Amino acid sequence: MRRGLAVAAGVLALLLAGIYTSSEWQLEQRHELPPEPPWAPPASCSAEAERGARLARLALCITCHGDDLAGTLQSESHLLGRLYSSNLTPGVGGVGSEYEDEDWEHAIRHGVGADGRTLLLMPSHILNGMSNADLWDLIAFLRGLPPVDHQPPATRVGPLLRMGIGLGLSRDMVSSRQIDHSVPHSADVPVREGPSYGEYLVGLAGCRVCHGMELRGSPRPMELLGGPPPPSLVDAEGASSWSGEAFLHAMRTGVLPDGGTLDPRFMPWPNYSALTDLQLRSIHRYLRQQSPPSGPSS
Ligand code: HEC
Ligand code: HEC
Repeated sequence: MRRGLAVAAGVLALLLAGIYTSSEWQLEQRHELPPEPPWAPPASCSAEAERGARLARLALCITCHGDDLAGTLQSESHLLGRLYSSNLTPGVGGVGSEYEDEDWEHAIRHGVGADGRTLLLMPSHILNGMSNADLWDLIAFLRGLPPVDHQPPATRVGPLLRMGIGLGLSRDMVSSRQIDHSVPHSADVPVREGPSYGEYLVGLAGCRVCHGMELRGSPRPMELLGGPPPPSLVDAEGASSWSGEAFLHAMRTGVLPDGGTLDPRFMPWPNYSALTDLQLRSIHRYLRQQSPPSGPSS
């Protein structure tokens, strides 16, 4: 009996040590990234901070880094630990005055900090598809941010989060490990109204994170937070069946065709409301393309 207990305790200790080592290895991994792209925008494409500002809303930088992008608390608990997003401005405690173009690229598209560290929670697996032209616009916007003095507190990884990372259950937390860092990026994505531009925007906007990979709705993660489950966007009655005007209206005002309203705490429509008509129509046309053929045709 005693021996059985001792063996069980030994196995448990080994298991915990294994989980700890695996999480530690993932968290402490340093990345050497290939230099790319050539850091001078082609003459035909001048970086534009205003377009970059729209991208920062679309890609939810503002949701996580705060309206002034000076960093906000993401989670604080004994089990999960403390996660704080970085201050991106050139103020005291911000990275803005130190970051070179390459550093921005590595952090945004690869989830790797300027010091080579693995960035936690930063969703670079979603942002990795961003074209060079859009990245230039985004960096132009970030460079022009007014300085905000704010030193975000250090990250602390709690036991539950460590377990999730060690067992490979919290893969989105360590996005740099999900990315094939050698895949080249597209120089530009043609800004043309249609489903292919819409698909690109849906990818960057993280619609799939909440509405599911197939956009058919998902019970996660909103139920955990007490919000409504994100519905399917491509079913016969889904947003793909609405008129283009009704879709634009919902994304701009949060008011649905049936008069219901979208709760901005759970569906971040205010971030998408600044998109141009062409961008929103392209997203809608992509949703239509993804809906089953039995649905109403455009
Ligand atoms: C889901 C939340 C989330 C979103 C969305 C997000 N970030 Fe982050 N980001 C974080 C967190 C948390 C960190 C800090 C990670 C760490 O220190 O381990 C971070 C770190 C960074 C860093 C590294 C700075 C440093 O400390 O060296 C940069 C740069 C950055 N984010 C830029 C962006 C930009 C630009 C966008 C939008 C395109 C964006 N982030 C979207 C959560 C997010
Ligand atoms: C952070 C999670 C999240 C993200 C990201 C997100 N959504 Fe949502 N969405 C929701 C939730 C939750 C609801 C249900 C909200 C409610 O009922 O108040 C919703 C509802 C909607 C609706 C209303 C659907 C209906 O039938 O009533 C549309 C349209 C929609 N989302 C489109 C999008 C698009 C397009 C994107 C990407 C550009 C997106 N969402 C990104 C969580 C999200």
